[in-house]
Amino acid sequence: MERRTIGAATLEVGAVGLGCMPMSWAYSGSRQRGDESARAVHRALDLGITLLDTADMYGPFTNELLVGRVLKERRAEAFVSTKAGLLVGEQHIVANGRPGYVRRACDASLRRLQTDVIDLYQLHRADPEVPVEETWGAMAELVRAGKVRALGLCAMGVRGGRRSGARLYDDTIRQLERVQQVFPVSAVEAELSVWSPEALNALLPWCAARGVGFLAAMPLGNGFLTGTLTPGEGFEPDDLRARHPRFTAEMMAENQPIVAGLREVARRHGEDITPAQVALAWVLAQGRHVVPVPGAKQERWVTENAAAPGLRLSQEDLSDVAVLPAAQGSWD
Ligand SMILES: NC(=O)c1ccc[n+]([C@@H]2O[C@H](COP(=O)([O-])OP(=O)(O)OC[C@H]3O[C@@H](n4cnc5c(N)ncnc54)[C@H](OP(=O)(O)O)[C@@H]3O)[C@@H](O)[C@H]2O)c1
Repeated sequence: MERRTIGAATLEVGAVGLGCMPMSWAYSGSRQRGDESARAVHRALDLGITLLDTADMYGPFTNELLVGRVLKERRAEAFVSTKAGLLVGEQHIVANGRPGYVRRACDASLRRLQTDVIDLYQLHRADPEVPVEETWGAMAELVRAGKVRALGLCAMGVRGGRRSGARLYDDTIRQLERVQQVFPVSAVEAELSVWSPEALNALLPWCAARGVGFLAAMPLGNGFLTGTLTPGEGFEPDDLRARHPRFTAEMMAENQPIVAGLREVARRHGEDITPAQVALAWVLAQGRHVVPVPGAKQERWVTENAAAPGLRLSQEDLSDVAVLPAAQGSWD
């Protein structure tokens, strides 16, 4: 697989990563199976996908435990990205950016991941009660202590920021400017996909200008862009799409032209090419510093996604994707 470098510390990873979240969190709980997921992680490593993206809150905690089972056997082949700063409570998810908490969270993640160093440690969300410089300073100490190799920041996107268009990532960029004064940012993780391209306006250029890597979260539009979801089929109550405004039967039907457009581009490249691969190739085409982290818990999807860097979209393909209709259904 093609390799890409991200961040000031020039960290090298396979061009496509693996989002491990669906194995333990956010999507239909009844379909989460540990052994199948572990096989998917192994398959990813076999195929040159090195970046494994997890977080302490996925599960909570069980996703790191699952990734740790694989890392125990294959640590040298993997690049592990995990996150701290969000706590899952009974009713709410709350931010905690207190330095003491971050230090304890890192030690706990190292134990669950069965490793002595985290390649990329990300602040999942800044805590409004704690100056972000304080949280980031504690994270920088973890680098100096050898527990972490590089730092990243997750961006509050459409779902939290409730701002649209060009100004969506203004708050994130302000945070990034502040933490850069304390310790270099190696990567930013934020939503980027054919149907959520907002990061292209300012956040992606901000990263490109500073040699900061960009991890594209939700590059498959939570599965929608793969064309494998049927409008009206419904979602289990614990599935985030059951409450997602783009996943009502009506909006999924409205947004079908986007999938049809991806399918049309795929068709030009061969019968075996899928809309998911086109969606990932589009993300990869947005810059050499961009690494999509599609979430998947099934080996067949991992295999399909690993082939995406081999698909080179032409100018015609990119122009056709650019004129697809904007997605209907928003959090605003
Ligand atoms: N930093 C943040 O705040 C943040 C927020 C959200 C997500 N993330 C990260 O971003 C990663 C990706 O986001 P995501 O998982 O929510 O969304 P996504 O990558 O857009 O979509 C994941 C869904 O697509 C399905 N899928 C994957 N490959 C497929 C293929 N080739 N064909 C058909 N279906 C396919 C998966 O199915 P199966 O589950 O059945 O395999 C899963 O349901 C997460 O895993 C997480 O690591 C970060």
